[in-house]
Amino acid sequence: MSNISPEEAFKRVIAHAKEYGFIFQSSELYDGLSAVYDYGQNGVLLKNNLRTYWWKAMVQLQGNVVGLDSAIFMHPTVWKASGHVDAFNDPMIDNKDSKKRYRADVLVEDYAEKLRQKADKEVEKAKERFGAAFDEAMYRSTNPRVVEYLSKADAVLTRFNKALEAGDFAEARQVLIDEKITCPVSGSANWTELRQFNLMFATKMGSVAEDASDLYLRPETAQGIFVNFLNVQKTGRMKLPFGIAQTGKAFRNEIVARQFIFRMREFEQMEMQYFVRPGSEMEWYAHWKHARMQWHLALGLGADRYRFHDHEKLAHYANAAADIEFQFPFGFKELEGIHSRTDFDLSRHEEFSGRKVQYFDPETNESYTPYVVETSVGLDRLFLAVLATALDEEVLEDGSSRTVLRLPYAVAPTQVAILPLLKKDGLPELAQTVYNELRWDFQVAVDEKDAIGKRYRRQDAVGTPYCVTIDHQSLVDETVTLRDRDSMKQIRLNIKDLRSNLQESVSMTSLLKKLI
Ligand code: GAP
Repeated sequence: MSNISPEEAFKRVIAHAKEYGFIFQSSELYDGLSAVYDYGQNGVLLKNNLRTYWWKAMVQLQGNVVGLDSAIFMHPTVWKASGHVDAFNDPMIDNKDSKKRYRADVLVEDYAEKLRQKADKEVEKAKERFGAAFDEAMYRSTNPRVVEYLSKADAVLTRFNKALEAGDFAEARQVLIDEKITCPVSGSANWTELRQFNLMFATKMGSVAEDASDLYLRPETAQGIFVNFLNVQKTGRMKLPFGIAQTGKAFRNEIVARQFIFRMREFEQMEMQYFVRPGSEMEWYAHWKHARMQWHLALGLGADRYRFHDHEKLAHYANAAADIEFQFPFGFKELEGIHSRTDFDLSRHEEFSGRKVQYFDPETNESYTPYVVETSVGLDRLFLAVLATALDEEVLEDGSSRTVLRLPYAVAPTQVAILPLLKKDGLPELAQTVYNELRWDFQVAVDEKDAIGKRYRRQDAVGTPYCVTIDHQSLVDETVTLRDRDSMKQIRLNIKDLRSNLQESVSMTSLLKKLI
């Protein structure tokens, strides 16, 4: 969809997701619930396949990574120990004229980004002017206008972040005023005070109000892994290095939830904590950074859509951190985080629980707190990355167009659709026989309604890689046509060869083999 704007392309993705049963607004019947979504009949299949791809790559193929399914509710002290009670905050500010609420840090980052874009424009202009002799690095560091834009962007961010870290909210707010950062809706800089807002959802456990204890819905799945470290290590007799992986729901009361399923209040994470000997963490950090990028690339969405963003400013518990960013319709944004978290989490749980959380190393005969390298990817974000990239409006040779969802074959909701050419002459019965054979290995649909061309288009729109057409010749010689979604090419083959033929191109194994 290269001939339309990114905004229009994104609108089409959202509309397509609804029209074809991928994603619905939660509680739509009651006008919806903001930033909460339901996955429909096709969405749940795609989502399950993406989760399976992750699970098989991270657990089944690893040998030293085991799974876990910890509860959403955890002891409230867990969130004290993890730092979420005190520090899982976003700075919030309201515009008094539009009454709109914003994350102040996002407003400041957007402002800094605009300054950087101005610098980029200057560089582009100079590039055109000077041609082949242009030295971009030199120009960026010496041209007064470019230097001014870039240093201003850095200075604004530094001033704002410093104020936040010091808890000086008046000073942080003053940055918006001084830089004349305005509300995109009202255009005014009439801002309220800035406040910190904790993102955890609180709830109560217990039937009697006085006895009820405050609980939180987990804002990440990782803490379930940390508090089970010893349980898994001991019962599984695991030796370092080893990993624990889990997928599951997480909840964050995001101040501004925008961009469809990119930032939700209820979402799903796929996280793996890799426990290593202190001192070896950088080696494992590099290993997992590479492995996770390869995993994304194997999906085939295009290498130029990914990039690493190495964190310069690290959280106090991390000694290295990077994001894998993906080019969403609204720009490059974080898809996955890979963090070297030192022994922070296990040590904190040791401190807050009063119990020893250490590993006895039989090779060195000593006990110590392992270091952790974490990989954490949002399943819904991954879903959006795949869906948005896959949606295509293809102009065909005859000038007509077709909507085609070019999903990676192995994760498509339905892998094969069986289409009897006519609804008579025994064709539907043969279609049923083929369906009965294939359904053991694949998600199969049978579609008998409408003309065959219309049925192909319907399957293209939900991303079905193959259509099997049953015609009169099939009754005579037990052959069918197999139509490929992307090339639209058809081959004729024997029904008995269908399974092995499909296995080669649409099975999860075929995708996983790209990793090794
Ligand atoms: N345990 C580390 C952790 O939770 P994070 O960067 O806060 O790190 C990890 O989250 C991933 O979870 C992100 O890279 C993103 O893909 C996903 N994620 C985070 N917040 C999200 C939200 N509100 N909606 C959808 N996905 C989200």
